Amino acid sequence: MNKAKLVVIGSLNMDIVVETDRFPQLGETLLGERVRFIPGGKGANQAVAGARLGAETAMIGAVGDDAFGEELLLSLSGNGVDVSGVKRVAGTATGIASIYVAEGDNSIVVVPGANYRMTPDDIDRNEDKLGEADIVLLQLEIPVDTVVYAARKAKSLGKTVVLNPAPAQPLPKEIFGYVDYMTPNRTELARYSGMDAEGDALEAAMRRMKEMSAAHIITTLGADGSAYLTDEGVMRHIPGYKVQVVDTTGAGDCYNAGLALSVGSGRNLEEAIRFASLVSALAVTKFGAQAGMPTREEALEFAAQQARHKT
Ligand code: RIB
Repeated sequence: MNKAKLVVIGSLNMDIVVETDRFPQLGETLLGERVRFIPGGKGANQAVAGARLGAETAMIGAVGDDAFGEELLLSLSGNGVDVSGVKRVAGTATGIASIYVAEGDNSIVVVPGANYRMTPDDIDRNEDKLGEADIVLLQLEIPVDTVVYAARKAKSLGKTVVLNPAPAQPLPKEIFGYVDYMTPNRTELARYSGMDAEGDALEAAMRRMKEMSAAHIITTLGADGSAYLTDEGVMRHIPGYKVQVVDTTGAGDCYNAGLALSVGSGRNLEEAIRFASLVSALAVTKFGAQAGMPTREEALEFAAQQARHKT
């Protein structure tokens, strides 16, 4: 299989992760158990996952001129990501995500900082990187106008475009014409389709989203795996893996990177989804977003283990 060339355009955040027994209630003060500072941001997480899983990966994004920015760049480059497309914005703070991890889940508040200084000019300045890519992977933690511009440019250069529409944001219709693969989770699907997406309502919501877009729609369902619509418009469910959950932060990012690099390496959609499920299952078994991303070798070993269990 060819080594996919992946360009990720998106956010870099320092994750301030607080572990507690349970989530605080409104107005309540809790004593947490531990705080950690871990490189994150949906864009940077996807870039690290892509690189660890074997794609030649470049990141286009922005950090502030502070110590967190420095650390985030080191985390990316230490994982083999080309960071020459990440600008440093003077006088601006690097993006921060305040994360509570409790009860096997997380809740996150992001303060975008430098991420919101990403403009269409930054995309133009990195046109050569886009030109060399097989796949361009986008999310919504930088300004939507810049995401739309990037998707339009990538499409005009003949690239395959994957949009992880997270966190859910109002999107102009135009963007749906540029995207080849769209990967909402259930909550995002409900927001974009304007329909209930719980239980049996999932398929109808996915069909509604498909009517808005030429893209393949793939919905991530956490521990339940994911679902996609076939070319005939029928929903297929691909189950997840049973693993020991340590931290779900970044699992969706790992899924998106796995899907993007698989599609970029020539796998068909169902194979790509199976690979994405496999690697995102591994991501939840370790603590931290970027820290928990599996390597290609770990993914192959896990796949072999699963195959042994089946026989
Ligand atoms: O998807 C997980 C990421 O969302 C975290 O790393 C955090 O930075 C937020 O952007």
